[in-house]
Amino acid sequence: MKNIVILISGGGSNMAAIVKTAQRDGWRERLGAQVAAVISNKLDAKGLVFAREQGIATEVLDHKAFASREEFDAALAAVIDRFDAPGAPVLVVLAGFMRILTPGFVNRYAGRLVNIHPSLLPAFPGLHTHQRAIDAGCQFAGVTVHQVTAELDHGPILAQAVVPVLPDDTADTLAARVLTQEHVIYPRAIAGLLQK
Ligand code: GAR
Repeated sequence: MKNIVILISGGGSNMAAIVKTAQRDGWRERLGAQVAAVISNKLDAKGLVFAREQGIATEVLDHKAFASREEFDAALAAVIDRFDAPGAPVLVVLAGFMRILTPGFVNRYAGRLVNIHPSLLPAFPGLHTHQRAIDAGCQFAGVTVHQVTAELDHGPILAQAVVPVLPDDTADTLAARVLTQEHVIYPRAIAGLLQK
């Protein structure tokens, strides 16, 4: 069985969309894959509640308890690697995981580490993507699923979805429109990776 480990920091709606799609589409039977664990760097991440209700293993690793980024990432990797299966290295899915990862961590999971970012990359890497798209006068915004490389919010693009920016949009209304698309393309992109 190929294990998927999902990393979150907050609401976990993308994680929930992946879990629900895996159940609905029978990833276990069809793709030999399962969401094996959800890891959060925040104790109060709402997504942990949903994951536990689904019977998925959860772990919290508080980044503030570590002296350096390297130490946190080493501890994170140690938890993730528990879910490697013989001949089937774990797939690591960042879903609203708001930590910058060290090059060492990224290299360790090269080719099996994916992220979702709420902009049409390469436009607007980093934070406050929706406000920046509005401020720039963009008529379209969107979301990108990409392989993670050492450079933040870069890496080969696996999927994108586009939404219009409407005249009255605020960052919140635009974010909500984009999030709806996130929930469609992230599970689909992961299923695509699992089929390879
Ligand atoms: C999502 O919009 C995701 O694209 C974004 O955080 C939100 C998490 O929502 N990720 C980033 O900004 C990463 N730089 P969720 O916890 O409900 O999935």
